[in-house]
Amino acid sequence: MKLKQKIVLVTGAGSGIGRETSILFAKEGASVISLDSNYFSAVETVEALKKYNKNSIAFECDVSRNKDIQEVLQNVKKNYGTIDIIFNGAGIHSRNLSLENASDEQIWDRVIEVNLKGTYLVNYYFAPLMKKKKSGSIINVSSIMGLVGYSKGFGVGFDAYPPSKGAIIQLTRNLSLDLAKYNVRVNCICPGYVKTNLTKALHEDNDRLKELEAKHPMGRLGTPLEIAKTALFLASNDASFITGSSIVVDGGYTAQ
Ligand SMILES: NC(=O)c1ccc[n+]([C@@H]2O[C@H](COP(=O)([O-])OP(=O)(O)OC[C@H]3O[C@@H](n4cnc5c(N)ncnc54)[C@H](O)[C@@H]3O)[C@@H](O)[C@H]2O)c1
Repeated sequence: MKLKQKIVLVTGAGSGIGRETSILFAKEGASVISLDSNYFSAVETVEALKKYNKNSIAFECDVSRNKDIQEVLQNVKKNYGTIDIIFNGAGIHSRNLSLENASDEQIWDRVIEVNLKGTYLVNYYFAPLMKKKKSGSIINVSSIMGLVGYSKGFGVGFDAYPPSKGAIIQLTRNLSLDLAKYNVRVNCICPGYVKTNLTKALHEDNDRLKELEAKHPMGRLGTPLEIAKTALFLASNDASFITGSSIVVDGGYTAQ
């Protein structure tokens, strides 16, 4: 087992990539602190991994809210003492936001708040625990949209999702430099399109699915498990000299 007795904080643990990562990490011996703004989904994840680990726990936590994170931090300090790994999976896409009467600017703010500020806040409050024990691995989640341009009609250029993901790559680099001397590694995964709730509107539409598959040279979308396995590599000692990196897992999308 690669993560025996490790304590892992997973945000966005209630669905898709975060859920699959939580289950894989538990199979590898970790206790999972499952965070999601949707409490019931965070609990479902803990139920799903219970057969591998009985020490896991779920919290309702909106990663964009300082107060929520501080509450989880106090709880984690009390119940676990520390953490070894952070997987920052919580994320939203502008296309899925159904804020009533929301202006484009409000949608922009919310996407940046959850994707970028949420990643910052979780790292800001939890990294000191790793710094103190002089070991740890932080995995942020960016996207191919943080690496290459995308345009499909006027307006997409103002979409906050790609800039939020691009900024996570730079946050990863800078944080990795800060924490390297404390033996805390900080890396990032850039997935191509993966079949999850985030992309449901796209992959459930047959024409759009075909269009998307064709954009990936491997001719298909990724699976949450393929991202989780990359996270496992980065979390484990197998990646002991890797920090500040962004690993692309995209079936060749950005190689074109
Ligand atoms: N699916 C893809 O194609 C794809 C591609 C590239 C990157 N990503 C990134 O991977 C990560 C996981 O996405 P997914 O595809 O598994 O999506 P998903 O929608 O299946 O899961 C995201 C989870 O994050 C939670 N969440 C949303 N806002 C939150 C908040 N404010 N605080 C805490 N939790 C919150 C949701 O409730 C959900 O459980 C995201 O950061 C996403 O941007 C996904």
